[in-house]
Amino acid sequence: MPIPLIIDTDPGLDDAIAIALALGSPEVEVIGISTVGGNTNLENTTRNALRLLELLDRADVPVASGHDEPYARAKQETGNPPVHGLDGFASVDLPEPKTSVVSTDSPAFMADLIRNSAQPVTLVAIGPLTNIAHMVDRFPEVVPMVGRFIIMGGAAKTGNVTPVAEFNVWHDPEAAKVVFASGLKTVMVGLDVTHSVKTYETEFEWMANHGKFGEVFQQMMKYYTDFYSQFYGERMTHQHDALAMAEAIWPGIMMLEETTIDVETRGELTDGMTVVDDRDRKGRGRNSWVAWTIDGDDFHVRLRNALGALAEPFRS
Ligand code: RIB
Ligand code: CA
Repeated sequence: MPIPLIIDTDPGLDDAIAIALALGSPEVEVIGISTVGGNTNLENTTRNALRLLELLDRADVPVASGHDEPYARAKQETGNPPVHGLDGFASVDLPEPKTSVVSTDSPAFMADLIRNSAQPVTLVAIGPLTNIAHMVDRFPEVVPMVGRFIIMGGAAKTGNVTPVAEFNVWHDPEAAKVVFASGLKTVMVGLDVTHSVKTYETEFEWMANHGKFGEVFQQMMKYYTDFYSQFYGERMTHQHDALAMAEAIWPGIMMLEETTIDVETRGELTDGMTVVDDRDRKGRGRNSWVAWTIDGDDFHVRLRNALGALAEPFRS
């Protein structure tokens, strides 16, 4: 029986790979996608989710849009060039979506899916946690119904927007603080593990003879690789979101350590930092797990199998 899966996302180039990984993996059934502002604005992240599903002939998956603005603060700019392109999808050549969202209230949409699922849902958040924070605020009764909650976000050690803050948490620290304190036991797949896996552009060469699928995904990965190669001097990327998705699809694929995490929301140098407290404070309990390691080669085999299954209808 596949695990029912909800994805909250800000597509986003690595989001696209993560969504495809889920759609190509029979272990899970994607029962809904919620969009959030992050890599680009909500209009673009929603447009990208709809266009991606139509490309993959999966417009049956319902999409609901959520929040554009962060939970409690004005949107900040990183000051870096747009990692995912101005439209969030490297200006890839995809037609305007023919389908629309089923709701513009994704916190309520996700709460309804969780409440009505016959099996406990796995909730995966691969963008800022804005929608999740609003959901736990408005519908606290669904928190204990969630099976697993996995995020791509945060870092126990080094950030990517600042020395200590990772983008998804940095973009909306108040939302992250609410989520870690909500009772949702969060699996934090942060930069500690995602920076340990390099995905070389050669991983996507097989897509060349797979029609529009290959054209779109290779163009997106070229753009994403161009960005990373500026900093790392080699044609590689970090597939942050797909790595978090791998832990959702195959529980235990990562080495996790139970811990307690809180989020800095006022620090001059540490704003958006996920503070991991390993001290065993009696009575406080642990609210999360932090992911430390994964077998990168095994991850790439699983990714290739899932994407290959999706690409098969396009093969010439
Ligand atoms: O820091 C990496 C995260 O920020 C990923 O989710 C990526 O899509 C961006 O949203
Ligand atoms: Ca993302």
